[in-house]
Amino acid sequence: MGSYDFLVVGGGIAGLSAVIRLAEQGRVLCVTKESLAESNTSYAQGGIAVAMGGKVDVELHLSDTIGAGDGLVDQAAAETLVNEGPLRVEELLGWGTEFDRSAAGELLRTREGAHSLSRILHAHGDATGREIARALLAHVRLLPTVELREWTTTVDLVVEAGRVVGATLLDRDERLTEVRTGAVLIASGGAGQVYSDTTNPAVATGDGIAMAYRAGAAVEDMEFYQFHPTAFLGEGAPRFLLSEALRGEGALLVNARGERFMLAQHAQAELAPRDVVARAITREALDGPVYLDMRGVQGVEFRERFPGISGFLAEYQLDLARDLVPVRPAAHYLMGGIRTDVAGRTTLPGLYAAGEAACTGVHGANRLASNSLLEGLVFGVAAAASMIAEIGPVQTSDSTSSMKESLQTFHSSQLIEEWIAKLRDLMWRDAGLLRDAEGLHRAEAALQTMKESMPGGMTRREVEARNLFTVAGMIVQCALGREESRGAHFRNDFPKRNALAEHSILEQGRLRFEVCL
Ligand code: SIN
Repeated sequence: MGSYDFLVVGGGIAGLSAVIRLAEQGRVLCVTKESLAESNTSYAQGGIAVAMGGKVDVELHLSDTIGAGDGLVDQAAAETLVNEGPLRVEELLGWGTEFDRSAAGELLRTREGAHSLSRILHAHGDATGREIARALLAHVRLLPTVELREWTTTVDLVVEAGRVVGATLLDRDERLTEVRTGAVLIASGGAGQVYSDTTNPAVATGDGIAMAYRAGAAVEDMEFYQFHPTAFLGEGAPRFLLSEALRGEGALLVNARGERFMLAQHAQAELAPRDVVARAITREALDGPVYLDMRGVQGVEFRERFPGISGFLAEYQLDLARDLVPVRPAAHYLMGGIRTDVAGRTTLPGLYAAGEAACTGVHGANRLASNSLLEGLVFGVAAAASMIAEIGPVQTSDSTSSMKESLQTFHSSQLIEEWIAKLRDLMWRDAGLLRDAEGLHRAEAALQTMKESMPGGMTRREVEARNLFTVAGMIVQCALGREESRGAHFRNDFPKRNALAEHSILEQGRLRFEVCL
């Protein structure tokens, strides 16, 4: 084991794009909890939104991003995203990312909710994230100054004299070691597993956000959890994502009576912002099942355009061309996260964050569809640039003393799974799509009770359980504090938006609100 200048936690689009930059300046250790293939990035279907057509195109992307964010988007962050996006995507193309093209070689673009035009690039139909991850990883593997360490859980940050100087890592054999570096980037993604119904993979347990918060970093806008409107709803089936691109290609939403209910809800109907569609489906579902209906769509070869989705549905004897497909919203993306500026700096010296784990304010209260891959790409690179500028290459050593002997496992795995399932159920019921003070107080009390039986050991699952608990507490506290409805945060008891747009900031247990810039 050598020494590292930079530690990157997470191997999705934000982490890997940062690694590529950092590797030019020093030795980089990149750790992932499972294999590198298992990140939220790999599961992204619809595509990557980017305005490659010049000034007017970029301005439209900016106004769509700001519009979807319901008054809470930080202008500077959104400008960084749309202005730097095209350059970053050109780099991706240069590294061999195979976006879908027409027979004439033109990049194909699709449309999703709240976009004013078709600007979303996609790859292998509905496998955009997987293709981008493949291309990034192929590039990273060529870099001699990078060590990729899979199946490694980052447990906590090491803070000395108010500065992050490293992290404790738990390997596959449950050996605990401490790595010291010049700077740490958290790019470990979101926390969809805090809800019983999620499109996110099992690794999305909010680890990076929870450990940054424990270390003293501020988190922001944690109440804004985006629920994707259309996850598959089938007995015993996973909540598989049915990409918004299906609606972009013409799919309708119909209720149990076969009626299109979105026409009465929003001028953009099925392509309204996600929060609007998700709430409409939830309300409609009180009277019976809700379906995606693609049966009338002409001119799309479904198995070619959506091979992953078609293959998944075939396992349930469903065919997009023939069948109505039952759907229901599921937790999908956290707009909030570790508070950062547009250069990826957190409030804690030595600590940087990018991608879903971070909150630059770029998504405001509701993320525009397919802006998340672009976010990871743009802000991963930005964070790497500030790590290099502020820290520079420093030679540090890797302390590998094992701490395993001092640790014990207190809970059997079955008890942990039950404890986690209880947490996820209560969050879905009382802090999900439609909230009110009564439910949120119930969630708060239940979490307080669950704290007494919180797993205290040091297996990966126990670490995850504690992180989920921390994230759940933050969501509930911020949701209670925000007495308005805005974007993805809807309060039945405060159904209107406040005149003043404010970010919620949570730091060492204290919640405050700051006016959005
Ligand atoms: C989707 O394909 O609908 C997901 C894309 C996203 O979350 O932006």
